[in-house]
Amino acid sequence: MIEERLAYPSLENRTVRRRTPQAFGRDGTTTEPANGNCSDREWPACWDAAASLLKWSEPYDRIVDEENAPFYRWFVGGRLNAAENCIDRHLEERKNQVALRWEGKRGERRTYTYYDLYHEVSAVAAALREFGVEEDDVVTIYLPKLPELPITMLACARIGALHNVVFGGFAPNALAERIQRVDSRALVTCDGSFREETVIDQKRKADTALASIEESLPTIIVDRLGASHGIHLGEDQYDYDDLVETYADANVPPVPREATDPLFHIHTSGTTGEPQRMTHATGGYLTGVAWTAQTVFELTPGTTIWCTADVGWITGHSYVVYGPLLSGATVVLAEGSLRYPDRHRPWEVIEQNGVEIFYTTPGVIRTFIKWGESFPTAHDLSSLQLLGTVGEPIGPDTWEWYYTHVGGERCPIVNTWWQTETGCILISVRPGIDELKPGSVGPPLSGIDIQIVDEDGRELPPGEPGYLTINRPWPSMLAPLEGDQYWVLAEYWQAFSDPRADSWRYFTGDRAIVDDDGYVTIIGRDDDVITIGNRRIGTAELEAAITTVGGVTEAAAIAERTAGETGTCVFATLAQGQQNRTTIRDAVADAVAEHVGEFARPKSIIFTPELPETYSGKTMYQLLERIVNDRPPTDSDTLRNPEIVGELTTIWNQK
Ligand code: WT7
Repeated sequence: MIEERLAYPSLENRTVRRRTPQAFGRDGTTTEPANGNCSDREWPACWDAAASLLKWSEPYDRIVDEENAPFYRWFVGGRLNAAENCIDRHLEERKNQVALRWEGKRGERRTYTYYDLYHEVSAVAAALREFGVEEDDVVTIYLPKLPELPITMLACARIGALHNVVFGGFAPNALAERIQRVDSRALVTCDGSFREETVIDQKRKADTALASIEESLPTIIVDRLGASHGIHLGEDQYDYDDLVETYADANVPPVPREATDPLFHIHTSGTTGEPQRMTHATGGYLTGVAWTAQTVFELTPGTTIWCTADVGWITGHSYVVYGPLLSGATVVLAEGSLRYPDRHRPWEVIEQNGVEIFYTTPGVIRTFIKWGESFPTAHDLSSLQLLGTVGEPIGPDTWEWYYTHVGGERCPIVNTWWQTETGCILISVRPGIDELKPGSVGPPLSGIDIQIVDEDGRELPPGEPGYLTINRPWPSMLAPLEGDQYWVLAEYWQAFSDPRADSWRYFTGDRAIVDDDGYVTIIGRDDDVITIGNRRIGTAELEAAITTVGGVTEAAAIAERTAGETGTCVFATLAQGQQNRTTIRDAVADAVAEHVGEFARPKSIIFTPELPETYSGKTMYQLLERIVNDRPPTDSDTLRNPEIVGELTTIWNQK
């Protein structure tokens, strides 16, 4: 498998352009490059340089406090505000520069300058306060890709409230769960959104979620559909535009937060498979994001970046919202699908907005490949300077196609490795500095200390696959609330740390291999989490939904890749005497769509007499994945029921 990945085109004789970074000084003005680069500085002093990319209202007196490891506290004593760093600090120099360009699904366009953002963010912040949202309260945001989404996030940050963005495609149940998990004080959603020719009733989904929650939440409704779709505002529901008008002149000074105060919650899936509440701290998170925006993307004021991720995922938080705005860049936000109104859309977005940095996933690139090169070729993509990918390993053909047909053989590709928990990119080449090795994610960024270890935590030599661990803390690391520390310890720190020696090592959940030059190649995850459309979903969450269907006794959900697209494949066992498979199949598909979301609706549902299991009763997901993705099943020594492998292969092939 590794060999397969390493069979990439040679990059000899290919020039890689180097862009010159320009950075901010501590006071927010552009001075000589502050250069948040760790390589020539001692750890942790190097993080001091990275933190100087931000504007601090109160300087910190300690870079990192290791007292309560592994719950490290970064920039202790310092104070800053995220919204002030993303907006106010730019006003003097570039208040009329475009901060955000939004492209609606139906050809609508809106642009916001930094000054526009300042105004609207202040108004929304004032409205939230009016609803009783105070510092440290949590606001859940359930919106598709609309400008109001980053604006509301920044409005929360301005008053020191935490945002909890829930991906707009999630079903009411999933939303309700995520609202309650964080004890939300308010909700921001919209009336609906267009899906190609139809309308998705987002408000109905939100109302269903709200109805299942005891407490009433003040809810702000963004009007996306327009006058033709009148909406009924229920009790404690308010129209976003009315509020912005009412509070148009509000002056809401940014609340200086302790660097260690939480900035937001976001949900992810870990080894338990259930959604987990993750938290990032203000000073550390912003430092990590500003630092990587500079070292990996070389974002400078006015650079136009388009990251296709949904804002509800960490990629969107870090590289649609915070990273670009901290850097004074111009963000492109494109609502809706990349194939609507037709397959020219992505290339039109790049061409018409002069996108310089394009950041997407291998899955999206595979879709482009399927459509054919005639689409990108029909457009002037010469504005592009740098390409990025994230989320899963990128295969050689996909890499080559991206490099050639999108990057015109002139743009470096940064394959970036990171996680919701890491907050920012930790492993990537730096364009123009490091050699590109397609297939590998590159060396860890300076200041990041990784190790590949075996089961017992012993470091492995280059060339040997093992577990990817991180040896030293980094600023944008997960910063769990006290109530979450217990499970965070078990999930991420326990496996490879030695608490008695006060030696802590973070486990990423990934398997990887490192080469002689220190370049890392990611093999894949080591747990029961699958990636659908680049969203990490716990198999347990899917399976819980599937087993709500009467007649289904057990289920295993895995990722199925066909024609370059990843979808969900379900294996299920049925109770005795269940005859009507078609009905059950439909019910399973609906249950997944209802409990998790339409995006996870299974591509295939296979009934089997048994699931392959280890002696300890753990489902062998990897084996199912191999069968489904046409790879030979690996050795079945550890299986309790090895005979099922042949049977499953037959069932799958006859499907
Ligand atoms: C997992 C994190 C934060 C990025 C979006 C996903 C996998 C991430 C790569 C890459 C191979 C990658 C890992 C990681 N992953 N980047 N460049 N090459 N695999 O965030 O949902 O927190 O998932 O995505 O398995 O652990 P996430």
